[in-house]
Parts: sequence; structure tokens; C-alpha cells
Amino acid sequence: MEFILASHNQKKLDELRQILDGFHVQVIPLPAGAPEPEENGSTFAANAQIKAHAAAAFTGKAAIADDSGLCVDALGGAPGIYSARYADGTDQGNNQKLLCEMEAIPDGHRQARFICAVACVLPDGREFTVQGECEGEILRQLHGTGGFGYDPLFYVPTYGCTFGELPQQIKNTISHRAKALSAFAETLKSYIQE
Ligand code: IMP
Repeated sequence: MEFILASHNQKKLDELRQILDGFHVQVIPLPAGAPEPEENGSTFAANAQIKAHAAAAFTGKAAIADDSGLCVDALGGAPGIYSARYADGTDQGNNQKLLCEMEAIPDGHRQARFICAVACVLPDGREFTVQGECEGEILRQLHGTGGFGYDPLFYVPTYGCTFGELPQQIKNTISHRAKALSAFAETLKSYIQE
């Protein structure tokens, strides 16, 4: 089954295609000219739903959208839905701000999780939203140059390294996005069978 991905980001399209490989789901790009709605929801799920609805309304086709970010326990869940623009909007600026905000947080209290919500809107109007999470800890220095965003600060205890050091193929099996997309593919089966 084909889904419009509610994003103009080619890297995101590639990553979703890699993760969904084998799930019998084809993801196609949002057509040029599609409006980018204001993401003014107060949760990842609400923002994913806003984007999926806009893409489905514009194309008349089934659409999916994801919304994700980093939630740090000691910061009351920040940066959360504001992850992309926590500081100046650059990965470097965002990571520096996170390090500063967490300077006084002792080791053992630096737990965090990436969260990803995936919203799906079908052409007949039915919709569902699923979520995936990946647990880790925030280090005191950047480690690794892979990935993007907060990856070099996000330490995954099971692998003994950060997302920035982990090969992309492995990140794609354990990440918040991987878990949310696998939940999406599972849930979709029951919607198609109905
Ligand atoms: P988006 O909703 O997927 O565009 O993600 C919003 C922001 O959350 C990104 O700009 C990153 O700062 C952060 N983020 C989301 N997923 C990841 C990830 O897998 N690694 C690192 N940062 C992420």
C-alpha cells in the first residue's frame, strides 16, 4: 500500500523507506506545493496528526507523518516537542544548550528518551497514531559523528556507545522511529483487514 510522507525532507524519506523495507509499505514524497501546516500541537502525536491530515487533504491519498524529539527526565521532559529549535535550530547549538542546561545534573540522573509519534490517515477518513521510544542517557561530551541532532550525546547502554557512534543500520532497528514505524505497520494490518 502507498502512503504519502508528510515531509519535504529527502533524508527522512530515505530513512523511513529503509526502516519500512520488508513491511509491504511504499512511502512516496509529498508533492511540491503542498502546504506545510503550523505544528502547534502540544504533543508529538498532535503534531504528527496535523501533518498527516494536511497531506491527506491535499493529495486525497493515504498519508503518514512523524514527529519526534528528545525528552530529558531531569529537565522535566525538555526539549520535547521543541527539540528542533531548542537553541538556534542548528544541531551544534542545540547540543551545546543541552550540555549547559545539564551541567549540574549528576551522573546516574541523566536519563532521557527519544520519542517518535507516527500518525496515519487513510483515504476513507480512518486514522490512527502510534508511538515508539528509545531509552538512553545524556553524556557530558559529544561522541561520534554519525546520525544527526542529539545523536552524539545520546548514550545507549545496551550498545555501550552513542547513536552518533552506532552504524545507521543498527540505529534503524532500535530507534524510536523504528519502533513507531514497526507499530504503524502492525496496526495497519488490522485496518486493512477490517
Ligand atoms: P523531527 O520531528 O523528526 O523532525 O525531529 C525533531 C528534532 O528532534 C530533530 O531536529 C532533532 O533535533 C531531534 N531528533 C529527532 N529524532 C532524532 C534522532 O533520531 N536523533 C537525534 N535527534 C533527533
